[in-house]
Amino acid sequence: MQKENSEALLDVRDLRVEFLTRQGVMHAVRGVDFTLHKGEVLGLVGESGCGKSVTANTILGLVGKKRHEKICGEILFHDENILAKPEKEQKKLRGDRISMIFQDPMTSLNPVIKVGKQVGEVLRIHQKTPEKEAWKQAVLQLGKVGIPSPEERAENYPFQFSGGMRQRAIIASSLMCRPEILIADEPTTALDVTIQAQILDLLLELREDYGVAILLITHDLGVVAEVCDTVAVMYAGEIVEKAPVKELFDSPMHPYTQGLLKCIPIPGRKEKLEPIPGQPPKLYEERIGCQFAPRCPHCRKGCEEPAVLKEIRPHHFVSCRRCQL
Ligand SMILES: Nc1ncnc2c1ncn2[C@@H]1O[C@H](COP(=O)(O)OP(=O)(O)OP(=O)(O)O)[C@@H](O)[C@H]1O
Ligand SMILES: [Mg+2]
Repeated sequence: MQKENSEALLDVRDLRVEFLTRQGVMHAVRGVDFTLHKGEVLGLVGESGCGKSVTANTILGLVGKKRHEKICGEILFHDENILAKPEKEQKKLRGDRISMIFQDPMTSLNPVIKVGKQVGEVLRIHQKTPEKEAWKQAVLQLGKVGIPSPEERAENYPFQFSGGMRQRAIIASSLMCRPEILIADEPTTALDVTIQAQILDLLLELREDYGVAILLITHDLGVVAEVCDTVAVMYAGEIVEKAPVKELFDSPMHPYTQGLLKCIPIPGRKEKLEPIPGQPPKLYEERIGCQFAPRCPHCRKGCEEPAVLKEIRPHHFVSCRRCQL
């Protein structure tokens, strides 16, 4: 589904995140740009440690408050820079209109509070809804995300739920304030494949029913192929390629994306799986040129120059200079 013509909800511009550590300055996110449109599912993929969660957590205001965390750039929500707003307004926006689902449903739920109360809590905190009404709304929402007998189940504690049901409860709680954006960081990694498929279906239904836009962070390209409209591939803190999902899988341009796709099993493909040789760079160095150059089989003169994302086909952006010629 092409969403470029629909309304831009979130526009991340030249986002940079640095952490001051004992080993030096870690450049975790190095100039990330992307736009999330109404009703779009945008996948953010890349190897472990490439900066996916830091990007998401910065959008959610969970990074950047401490002295050793430094943020530059803009995060525009409906054309207004969230980062320039007073702290109180930022908090409200991020609870009400931008919501988050984390990877591990067990640690996101308090084990000693009934599920119905926890799901309703969001309304009590953000909209000052009275307890009884919040409980009622929570039961309704639990039903909508597919929890059977929600009135009874709301009385349960998290340990009485299965892993898949806990993740549904988390999703229910993240939807209580009718957010426009849902940020899901590896929402299915801790679940087995059948439950994973059900949760992904649920996310797609929510997009249909509420028009919610989803930023889906995953390292699973199979998940991306199934549910995303657009994919952004991250490498060492930068987006190196961004394209509609079919285009990216059919014609990957960046050597890193091509390498990633060779690492996943595709039914019917005869060639062997090929891991990408070498290691991602240390994020303490501030390299100017292409971050992937030391591992790239096509590295050539010019790759030490700054690598900038350019649109080389309609809606297909790539930072590889060789692809831009
Ligand atoms: N608060 C912090 N202080 C210092 N370094 C941090 C902090 N948070 C994250 N990092 C570092 O930033 C880099 C990017 O981390 P991030 O969690 O975004 O990776 P990721 O792409 O989400 O990986 P994964 O797929 O394993 O979840 C990592 O090297 C990580 O160690
Ligand atoms: Mg992560």
